[in-house]
Amino acid sequence: MKLWGGRFTKETNQLVHNFNASISFDRKLFRQDIEGSIAHATMLEKQRIISKEEKDLIIKGLTSIKEDILNGSLEISHEYEDIHSFVESHLIKRIGDAGKKLHTGRSRNDQVALDMKLYIRDEISELDDLIKDFMLTCHKIMKVNIQTYMPGFTHLQKAQPVTLSHHMGAYFEMFKRDRERLADIKKRMNKSPLGSGALAGTTYPLDREYSAHLLGFDGPTLNSMDGVSDRDYLVELLSALSTIMMHLSRLSEEIIIWNSNEYRFIELDDSYSTGSSIMPQKKNPDIAELVRGKTGRVYGALISLLTTMKGLPLAYNKDMQEDKELTFDAIDTVKGCLALSNNMLSSMKFNKEVMEDSATKGFINATDAADYLVNKGVPFRDAHSIIGSLVLTCIEKNIPLDKLSLENYKAISPVFEDDIYEAISLTTCVNKRNTIGAPGKEAMEKILELNEAYLKSN
Ligand code: ARG
Repeated sequence: MKLWGGRFTKETNQLVHNFNASISFDRKLFRQDIEGSIAHATMLEKQRIISKEEKDLIIKGLTSIKEDILNGSLEISHEYEDIHSFVESHLIKRIGDAGKKLHTGRSRNDQVALDMKLYIRDEISELDDLIKDFMLTCHKIMKVNIQTYMPGFTHLQKAQPVTLSHHMGAYFEMFKRDRERLADIKKRMNKSPLGSGALAGTTYPLDREYSAHLLGFDGPTLNSMDGVSDRDYLVELLSALSTIMMHLSRLSEEIIIWNSNEYRFIELDDSYSTGSSIMPQKKNPDIAELVRGKTGRVYGALISLLTTMKGLPLAYNKDMQEDKELTFDAIDTVKGCLALSNNMLSSMKFNKEVMEDSATKGFINATDAADYLVNKGVPFRDAHSIIGSLVLTCIEKNIPLDKLSLENYKAISPVFEDDIYEAISLTTCVNKRNTIGAPGKEAMEKILELNEAYLKSN
């Protein structure tokens, strides 16, 4: 079952085998391992290192192994050390001596580096699709809520009014950056390590450009020691995944707050919430809480890998095998969270009246009242202080700013006229804000157009 028994006189201790083996998790790489081997064999034949017959046999054998794994007739069994040994041993079983030539000019060190890159490249595409789906949901909500007013918060205190469209637009931007980060990683990592050998290349006349091209890489890596020991792209990926989770977690936190009895801004769909075993009235936002909770797990993967890598001398060290479980887990976690958050978001109901009602309270228009004075020639600092004392009066009277009588306004500053009420109405407060990126209707319409174009071409 081993590829390396030759110089050993004793069997490996069973506990050592179990501790050392990676097949229980690197089995995920079987497609990539076979794809890489097919490219390697094709290149070996082109370079006349193996014959055409041998190459054809190898490709046929590898293809049948892949099909049999997929149709369930070949089980990836745990007595093999890793997926590379499993595939190679089965190839030799199926086609005999030609199979023994596949590993010419190759080491498991460049093989695993290649498999992992191929895997990550595919996963980045899937992650990208999921983020795009999520952005489409944001965009749908944005389009129909350009006039749905709600409070904007700082310090979780009502600050200035915004719209639901504007609020979701913030997430649209975050996820746009997430996609850019993934695309950037994909571009930078797209160099093939195949042909780096164990660490020092090989004496066979391999055509590394050719095998890189066959596998869709932009070219080969340019230093064989770096080729086998570079895990930067995994650190970058885990960092990008952590950022995606941070975004999803912030949204989850808002959903949890908005779903609370005190806020009631939203109502989660029954199919995306859970009940309590003891309190019959409960409808809990467990999914949002779990997304928030799982963020820690993805951050953990990033720190774990950085720590694993920090003390490693060049080139390959077995420590690097630790990159796999945590990367696979982080990717699967993020994919699951993206899909679930998307469905939760698209199925929840926004209580628009509650949001708007909340936006009329809490002196959210105080900045606009101060701006009103500024527009009439009062210096901003004085205006700030005048409105501050009016807010105090309102708190005593338990009324909002727009219910304060004109006499009360005039008593503190003669500059106030009847037009103050129009100036501090919710609609004015929002729709006068039309600089790029602001929540005003005109500004938002432009952003929606940009987003529409982005979604069409990206
Ligand atoms: N399972 C190993 C890993 O994941 C594959 C490479 C093994 N190479 C070696 N020389 N033992 O890193």
